[in-house]
Amino acid sequence: MGQAEMSKGKTVITYGTFDVLHVGHVRLLRRLKEMGDRLIVAVSTDEFNTGKGKRCLMPFEQRVELVESIRYVDLVIPEECWEQKVDDIQKHSVDIFAIGNDWEGAFDDLKAYCEVKYLPRTEGVSTTGLKGLLSAFDNGKIEQLHEALNILKSLAEDLS
Ligand code: CTP
Repeated sequence: MGQAEMSKGKTVITYGTFDVLHVGHVRLLRRLKEMGDRLIVAVSTDEFNTGKGKRCLMPFEQRVELVESIRYVDLVIPEECWEQKVDDIQKHSVDIFAIGNDWEGAFDDLKAYCEVKYLPRTEGVSTTGLKGLLSAFDNGKIEQLHEALNILKSLAEDLS
């Protein structure tokens, strides 16, 4: 049986926040889609993230809109709590649960319901990293840079 036949009809599911969408997310979703025929992405709600002490830059509705627009994604559902996974797997007849290997081992209990896989992350990019870069350019920092430039300017004038 060829690879295409073996994967026929398989449904894959993943869970994540997908804030400040980046190439690591897109590559993960492409690899997930290649594992089956139908990819379901559960995007965590703002309330769920707040409960985890996580604050998103983009609201839930925008994160959903972005993930939905990716060609590898067939269906987006909300992730509202840790406990919903078994229900989702049964309701959507999921064959494979897969997620980045930052979660290695965390969802092994789902092996009772479907295949569980952890995929390598794309190196060098993360939402946390991008948020850090953005915060380096907030208004306060830009104001400080202007002040520093003005000081340098007047020093240069004094010297000339
Ligand atoms: N992911 C990935 N490669 C990256 C970043 C994320 O494969 N460079 C995967 C994660 O392993 C996860 C999914 O993308 O399965 C959603 O990750 P998410 O936590 O939303 O993104 P991160 O960039 O990891 O966000 P944070 O920095 O807030 O942890």
